Amino acid sequence: MAAAVAEAPTQVAGLDANRSWMSAEDVELVDRLLAEGQAHLFAHWPTPGERDEDKRRLLAQLRHLDASYAGGLVKYIQNARKLLQDSKEGVNPFEGCVPSVPEGEKLDWGSPHFRELERAGVAAAGGCAFVLVAGGLGERLGYSGIKVALPVESASGTCFLQLYIESILALGAKAGGKALPLAIMTSDDTHQRTVELLERHAYFGAAPGQVTLIKQEKVACLSDNDAHLALLGGDPFQVQTKPHGHGDVHMLLHSSGLADRWLSEGFKWVCFFQDTNGLVFRALPAAIGVSEAHSYDVNSLAVPRKAKEAIGAITRLTYPDGRHTTINVEYNQLDPLLRATINPQGDVNDDSGFSPFPGNINQLVLKLSTYCAELHRHGGVIAEFVNPKYADASKTAFKSSTRLECMMQDFPKSLPEGTRVGFTVVNQVWAAYSPVKNSPADAASKAQGGNSSHSATSGELDWYTANCKMLQALGARVDGPRPAEFNGLSGLELWPRVTWSPLFAASWDELAAKVDAANVHIGEDAALVIQAPNVRIKSLDLQQGALVIAGQGQQAAGAAAAVAAGEGQQQQQAEQGEPLVVDGLVVSNAGWEWQALSPDEGASEEEYIRGFRVVKKEQQTLATP
Ligand code: UTP
Repeated sequence: MAAAVAEAPTQVAGLDANRSWMSAEDVELVDRLLAEGQAHLFAHWPTPGERDEDKRRLLAQLRHLDASYAGGLVKYIQNARKLLQDSKEGVNPFEGCVPSVPEGEKLDWGSPHFRELERAGVAAAGGCAFVLVAGGLGERLGYSGIKVALPVESASGTCFLQLYIESILALGAKAGGKALPLAIMTSDDTHQRTVELLERHAYFGAAPGQVTLIKQEKVACLSDNDAHLALLGGDPFQVQTKPHGHGDVHMLLHSSGLADRWLSEGFKWVCFFQDTNGLVFRALPAAIGVSEAHSYDVNSLAVPRKAKEAIGAITRLTYPDGRHTTINVEYNQLDPLLRATINPQGDVNDDSGFSPFPGNINQLVLKLSTYCAELHRHGGVIAEFVNPKYADASKTAFKSSTRLECMMQDFPKSLPEGTRVGFTVVNQVWAAYSPVKNSPADAASKAQGGNSSHSATSGELDWYTANCKMLQALGARVDGPRPAEFNGLSGLELWPRVTWSPLFAASWDELAAKVDAANVHIGEDAALVIQAPNVRIKSLDLQQGALVIAGQGQQAAGAAAAVAAGEGQQQQQAEQGEPLVVDGLVVSNAGWEWQALSPDEGASEEEYIRGFRVVKKEQQTLATP
């Protein structure tokens, strides 16, 4: 039950004189808001003729807020009042619940079992739709652009959005050239720049209609425990708004009709992922394979998590009435919950050196039929929460306005009993999860505290690590890594800068088929960039320097400089449709240097957040015609 409305006048001095010019729709909405105690929104209105444009502006905004929240503004206010009351009273959302470790698969990246599951996932990919949540502000990173436009790594300069789209195109190609759908959730903060990025690059090769943008709206801020909507300090004709969180994606997939359309088109799985984890498609196909093998309705891709590590834990909860659910429990809630129930020591590592509760990385594979049924049940409005910063212990006033939020990973909270919820852990974190979230300063302090820095630096270095270790596991001789320090992050491992497009290889099997790894050597400081899809490497000795294998009509990153200088360029052309074969190639040139930035050195924003710049001195380029 929502708490009672403190005062709900139906007559408001400032407003009533203005009613005559308002539309019937506006009057109806205003009366609904008055009944919810929101008279303060209109109490300051001057008589008709004064500031009428401002009044219209406020009414238009209220109509917009009303239309963009499932159930409308009244529902939002009622939900807020209930959650604010619970928060004030310190209600424990897990009261009476007993936690246990959920079921799932723990995989070693690249092991025979992993590869078997990846194979199954690739085979099932023709039934997959994809959803990228990219509406976040990225305040922690502090990058002025949109995060999906950031380069994943500096060797090729490929941005996150290109990498994701090419990964989906590569999986589609293996499903007979099927255009697997991708929905991108944007927000006012990211929408226009995402559209521009896509248009500038012809949707990175996606087919017309393959990519759909769905934009989330902000929600109204709340100024107190009675859920009074907050007006902007400097503009009393505008309600203050803030993002509602990535959980909006479910409501939008429902209201846009996309989820239902995918189901009717025969898609079986929907895969969710976030904006800056370049490694996601190194693990996602195996997770799809796990979903297939266990027929999971919900499968969370996860990583090992140290006890008490500040990352949500996938946890099975048994409610007092015997119902079960498997959900993400925030780390600061897990420890007290364990202490109060099954383990007085709380969240502790087991023999593996990790907590038995895996770490949630917000990448999900959901069975589309279950997902759509659930969306129809609740419209995609999932468990919301509120996190007010109180002015003092009395919890009667806030330091600043708050708002309701929701998280994508809370979707399973309301699933019916009997739903199969599991996880897929990839034991090697660096192979599955290395998001770019933190500014250099925050990254350094996280690293000092023994945590992952989750920075642009670690994102790039982990990408090379994963690629080099993949080649090594297939039998290549890869030298390194070299110790490195960038942006105050010490003890880093800088592997040879090896990168390839997913269009070249999107799985272990494909890489093994295209590269005779046993005949490949890559030197410690070498760089290898493969952008062409149709390449066959029979033998290669990349002793030192840079080798770029560029695709049709592509100008590989940095190629321009080397071509112009006429340095060490070798063209090796192939017939259309036939692979470009690299056989017996020995490469040795001055190459590219990853040069640490000195503190007062001028640098681009992309370089600054990494702590290095790439000096491209010389390279060898092979290009398909
Ligand atoms: P993050 O936790 O990285 O949050 O979001 P953020 O808002 O982008 O960054 P900070 O907290 O301001 O530093 C995880 C994923 O959810 C998306 C982000 O774009 C990212 O892919 N997201 C987040 C949304 O799509 N909408 C939101 O309202 C919030």
